[in-house]
Formats: sequence, structure tokens, C-alpha cells
Amino acid sequence: MAGLDRNFTDELRARLSIVDIVSRRVPLVKKGQNYWGCCPFHNEKTPSFSVNEDKGFYHCFGCGEHGDIISFVMKSENVDFKTAITELAAAAGLKMPDYKPKSPDQVAREESYFEIINNAAQVYQKKLFEENGAHALEYIRRRGFSDDMIKKYRIGYAPKNNIIANTFVNIKQDNLLATGLCRRGEYGMYDFFRDKLMFPIFNARGQIVAFSGRSLDGSEPKYINTTDTELFHKRRTIFGFNFARDAIHRANRSIVVEGQIDAIQMQCNGFPETVAPLGTALTEDHISLLCKANRNITFCFDGDSAGQKAAARACDIMMSFLRDASDVRFAFVSGGKDPDEVLKTSGTVAMKKIIDDAVPLVDFLWNLANAGFTVSTPNGRTQAEKFLKQKIAKITDVTLRSEYEHEYDSRMFNEWHKWKKNKNNVPKIELPQIDAITKNTLIFITNKYPEIAEQYADFLATLNIDLDGDVADMNLDKTAAEKYIVSLKLQKYLEKLHIQRKELVVKKLSGDNVDTDIIALDTKIHDANEKLEKLISM
Ligand code: UTP
Ligand code: MN
Repeated sequence: MAGLDRNFTDELRARLSIVDIVSRRVPLVKKGQNYWGCCPFHNEKTPSFSVNEDKGFYHCFGCGEHGDIISFVMKSENVDFKTAITELAAAAGLKMPDYKPKSPDQVAREESYFEIINNAAQVYQKKLFEENGAHALEYIRRRGFSDDMIKKYRIGYAPKNNIIANTFVNIKQDNLLATGLCRRGEYGMYDFFRDKLMFPIFNARGQIVAFSGRSLDGSEPKYINTTDTELFHKRRTIFGFNFARDAIHRANRSIVVEGQIDAIQMQCNGFPETVAPLGTALTEDHISLLCKANRNITFCFDGDSAGQKAAARACDIMMSFLRDASDVRFAFVSGGKDPDEVLKTSGTVAMKKIIDDAVPLVDFLWNLANAGFTVSTPNGRTQAEKFLKQKIAKITDVTLRSEYEHEYDSRMFNEWHKWKKNKNNVPKIELPQIDAITKNTLIFITNKYPEIAEQYADFLATLNIDLDGDVADMNLDKTAAEKYIVSLKLQKYLEKLHIQRKELVVKKLSGDNVDTDIIALDTKIHDANEKLEKLISM
């Protein structure tokens, strides 16, 4: 097990549901907080084997066996650690990493990188309060940073000259290059960050591994980050996590915002559980890091199209991390603002309302499907349905997945199909009263031929007449009776069309351009008349 990357086993635990893994061998039933089944490690008839989904472990109250997904696979399949990991990696769709223990050399190297970077941060911090850092200090204060905040987040200033290359002349060039702080050019070493406001990026243990530098003169790009190094992998690092960690446990949720200044302002103004990815692209690694604490995440993105896109991406990534106890939500800051601006202009209470109003993932995904496709057409609905299916398929917890399926099935029925029905019924037009002869005929037919009444029940209901009166004596056989009803239906339809036509004529006379509507209606009237004639002459 030596040299095994703990990140990877954590990743497996985060990705896979222990309930799913155990269920492959032991049927489980949910009772209260836990799932229960008969212990696979000793002989029993009544279940004393419990599985806790949230904590990710199992425990047998009968024989005392205890462990997580990895030990479950090892014990139940009698395989070694490596085999269990390989199998679980396949189940999680992850590639097995190459496990190489860190050599003493590498450990020493990394130590020296940490030291260089930490010293560099100190240089930057000092520079912020010197004369040629004045514009940077003024800027960060204007952005609402107190001196305490500047100190806590170790914000600094990288001057225009090559301060790091010049200060660290005695450091081995390769080590300096490896930190990403300097580059080698034609005329020797030069600094990567120049005239930038410097935000250190900390790892989860609180060591500085990289920097994000903000331009101060409006030049683009607005932010540049240290490119990936041995110590820093942008895709795996979440800004502010080291500061937010305890708060994420306490609050039992995390908030994810788009920018690092947003994250800092949130942390300092009532939302200490806030973090931000570096750059806008959220990755699976970011999520899996957060999910180690808990699976309750509120994404709070800008209301613009970039924010919407980022949210859709976050939602997509979240699907495979969902568990029955996950509470994942999406909040949007409207008016072209970001959380930093909301806090500054409207305060913590306004921000809290935005977070409290966040939409649960199940609704967010539904809204995405409805907004992304034309659900008023069969083709659009098909696309939207496929979109939802494809997202749901990523949920690993079988029960949860089927709950999502049911939920969307019912929404599709209630909101798409019912909606369609209502739409068709919209133009409700009062029809002329049924005359006495028609009424008597209908009473006769419904009494004599109840099967016909049954077949045309919907139509008869629309006539709104009382069919309980005295039955007259008539001479109509069954075929003629049916013909009568169908022709009545056509007549009623024609009446409706004529009323619509009258309305259109009024519109036309009052100046509306409804010529094409009238032509369309005339075609319908012509067709209906033709059908009626054919029916009667049969
Ligand atoms: P935004 O453009 O929304 O900027 O980028 P912001 O956070 O509001 O920046 P301020 O408030 O003007 O300082 C959001 C995040 O995207 C990354 C940064 O992490 C930033 O915080 N970003 C943005 C870059 O990496 N490079 C850029 O050029 C711009
Ligand atoms: Mn901003």
C-alpha cells in the first residue's frame, strides 16, 4: 500500500455509493438513516448488517465487521487491495493512476519549492506597502479589503521589475523555474508576474502553491495564474478551500462562486463556506474535493450567459456525485453583478436571499431542458427528454436514478402533455343551443344504442344537454343513428368555424390583416362541408 495516492482512494469513496457496491452482493432495505441487510461475513437470518451511505461505511452488529467500499470488496471477494481498487476504479469509470512512492529526492525538491514560493509571497506582501505598490494598495482597498483581510489572504504586489529573479539569485535556477515564478529568456531569468496584484493560491493544507495575479491597468487578460507545476494543478485546486474547510463542515454545505475576489468577500461577509474554481471552468476534481466534506453544494454564478453555461456544466458534473442526502442548488446573481458587487452594494442580507432562493438541482435541470429545446413540438420534446435521460443516466445510486426518472416522467406528462391539451381547448366558443328535434333524437339514440352513446361520450358531453327526458318513438337503425351523431358532430364543428370566421371578418373590417387566417378557415369550412355531404349521401 506504500506510496498509494490517498487522493485516489478518496476519489473512489467520493464517486461510488457504498450502498450500490454492497447491493451487488447483499440486498439492502432502507430503515431510518441506514440501509440494512443480512451480513455477508457471518451466517444470519435477520439483518444486522448496516450500511451508512453518507459516512461511506458498513458495520455488522452481529459479528463486528466494519469498513468502507474498499475493504468490502477485499473481504467479500477475497482479493488484495490493488485488485479491489482496480475493480472499483472501473466501476467509477476512473483510470488507475501509476502509484509511485515519492522519492526522498522529490520530497526534498518539493520542500524547496514551498520555501521559495512562501518567501516570494513575503516579498510581494512587503511590496504592496512600499511606494511603487501604492496604486495596488489603493486598488485593493477600494475593492473593500481591510488590512486584516490583506494580511489573512496574504495579498501582495509584484512590481514591474524582475523582483523575484533578482531577489533569488542564489537559488538554483531549475528550482526557481519549477515554481512557475520565473522564466528563462534570452537575457537571463525574468519574472512571470509583473505589475500585478497578487493573490496566493493555497493548497488544502494551507501552503502556498501558486499565485493568481490581477492586472491593475485594465490590460487583458484580467487574471493570470501560475501555470501548472509539480505543486500546483489548476484543475485540482479550489481557491479558498483551506480557509473554508472548517466552515464547510460546520455549515454542512459549501458555496461555489466564480471569482476569487468573490470568494474572499463571501468568506469575510457571512459565508465562510465559500470557494471558487480557478478560472471559470469547474472540474470533476474540484467537485470531488468538495464532496469529501459533504455533498451539499450551492453554486452561485453570475446571471450572464457565461454564468448560465458554467452552471449547466456544474450540474452535469454533479450528476455522478449525487446521493440521496445531497442538496445541490443553483443561485444566480442578476443585473450583471457578481457576489462581490452584491455584498458591496446591498449587503449580506441581500446575498443571503440570493443563496436562500437557490433552485434545487432537480428543478434546475428541468428548467435547462425546457429552455434548451422547443418543448411545444414533438421533436423538441423528444430532444429535451433525451437530454434529461442522458443526465439522469449519470446518477450512480440506482434508487435515486429511478426516482429522478419518475419525477421527470410525471413532469413531462403534467407540464408538456397536459399543457398541450389545455392549449387545444383554449378557444372556447359558445355554440347555439340544441333544438328540440335534435335533443329528442339524441335521447332516443342514447337510450336505444348505449354503445354509441359510450363511443361519442366526449362529444355528447360538449353539447351540454340533459339526456334524461322522455324517449320518443323513432325509426332509426344503429347505422343511421351513428351517422346522425357523426353528422351532428361535423355540423357543430362547422358552426364553430363560422363563428370564428365572423370574428375574423370583424377584425378585418377594423383594419387587422387577417386575410391568410380567413383563407385557412375557408379551406377548413370547405373540407368539413364536403365530408358532411358525403356522409349524408352514403
Ligand atoms: P470575472 O471576469 O468574472 O472577474 O472572472 P471577477 O472575478 O469579477 O474579477 P474582478 O472582480 O474584476 O477582479 C471570474 C474568474 O475567472 C478567472 C479568475 O479566477 C476570476 O476570478 N479569470 C478571469 C481568469 O483566470 N482570467 C481572466 O482573464 C479572467
Ligand atoms: Mn468581480
